[in-house]
Amino acid sequence: MSHQAAPQQTRRDFLYVATGAVAVVGVAGAVWPLIDQMNPDASVLALASIEFDLSGIEEGQSVTIKWRGLPVFVRRRTPKEIEEAKAVPLNELKDPETDEQRTKPGHEQWLIMIAICTHLGCVPVGESGDFDGWFCPCHGSHYDTAGRIRKGPAPKNLVVPGYEFISDTLVQIG
Ligand code: FES
Repeated sequence: MSHQAAPQQTRRDFLYVATGAVAVVGVAGAVWPLIDQMNPDASVLALASIEFDLSGIEEGQSVTIKWRGLPVFVRRRTPKEIEEAKAVPLNELKDPETDEQRTKPGHEQWLIMIAICTHLGCVPVGESGDFDGWFCPCHGSHYDTAGRIRKGPAPKNLVVPGYEFISDTLVQIG
């Protein structure tokens, strides 16, 4: 009796992203290898700081990476978005911070922020909301193109973690 091996099953295991609400755009391939997101607890110490290569991110693009178990937005802003953020008078802000306070001199294109709404912790959606920044659909918080809270129940701006540029395309977070 002839025996045929069972056809090999090809099965694709999709990468597990911490929360379904995190949209990973663009250079995901360049992002995830830095991170062992399946074992966030075990990797927390090792990831006290991470280096992230920005070179694959196009203007107007955003990626979400993970740092210390938290999602972090890395957005390369367009000149229009930077202009919009700089033009806002501080007295219109609930949590007044200038665009300069939230970016690094010479690297204003880059906005790096913890991707957690300061209201109750949902992950906001990028490039949406009334101020072209982020929108948190949980209870309707709108953030601007500098990640500052502009409307809705969130009390504070999206948090900017400590980070520094090692070169024009390499950033160290943490
Ligand atoms: Fe974002 Fe409530 S958690 S608005």
